[in-house]
Amino acid sequence: MDLKTRMPRQIDLASGQFTAGVLHEHTTTVGMLTGLFADQAAWQALPAGTPLYTVAILPAPQQEGELLSGVTHLYPGRVGREFYMTRGHFHQRREQAEYYFGLRGRGLLLLQQAGQCVLEPLFPGSVHYIPPFTAHRLINPGSGTLSALAVWPATAGHDYQALQAQGFGVRIMADGDGWQAEVQHA
Ligand code: PA5
Ligand code: NI
Repeated sequence: MDLKTRMPRQIDLASGQFTAGVLHEHTTTVGMLTGLFADQAAWQALPAGTPLYTVAILPAPQQEGELLSGVTHLYPGRVGREFYMTRGHFHQRREQAEYYFGLRGRGLLLLQQAGQCVLEPLFPGSVHYIPPFTAHRLINPGSGTLSALAVWPATAGHDYQALQAQGFGVRIMADGDGWQAEVQHA
């Protein structure tokens, strides 16, 4: 039997930053999220280049059996009364599940499946199972960056189209110093 020792990839738990390994990084800005936020006037008033979130992905081959992992850093802020959030998606392969792990900040994971929305608080150490056939979105009603590690099948894909008509059934809006969930449609 041959034996070798090697260093694993690493993540700094305090910042949620990968500190080793090749990364693919992508930042989503305000201008990329047409029609996502309820207050169109407030959305248009923000500079289109304002960063909303950055995803850093450890690449893997796009093959059956492979796993991708990535950290989403969702910045704090609001569009009108609505807190910054990710676009949100179903997986193209609807039967494929995902895990999220809270690393930094305090926020929310919104899950939606067949007319049912579930909100889970996300915080350092929280573990979230996203079942098959479930749309998911991160929301940051906090004052600092929200960072979460995700692990998902490399073949899952992202389907943003399916949510374009009606969107998620719940919006997270500022309410005094906190937030409230506003139900949009049945
Ligand atoms: O795989 C995931 O669910 C995450 O890595 C998301 O892609 C990430 O949070 C960005 O969200 P979205 O893809 O909805 O823009
Ligand atoms: Ni996903």
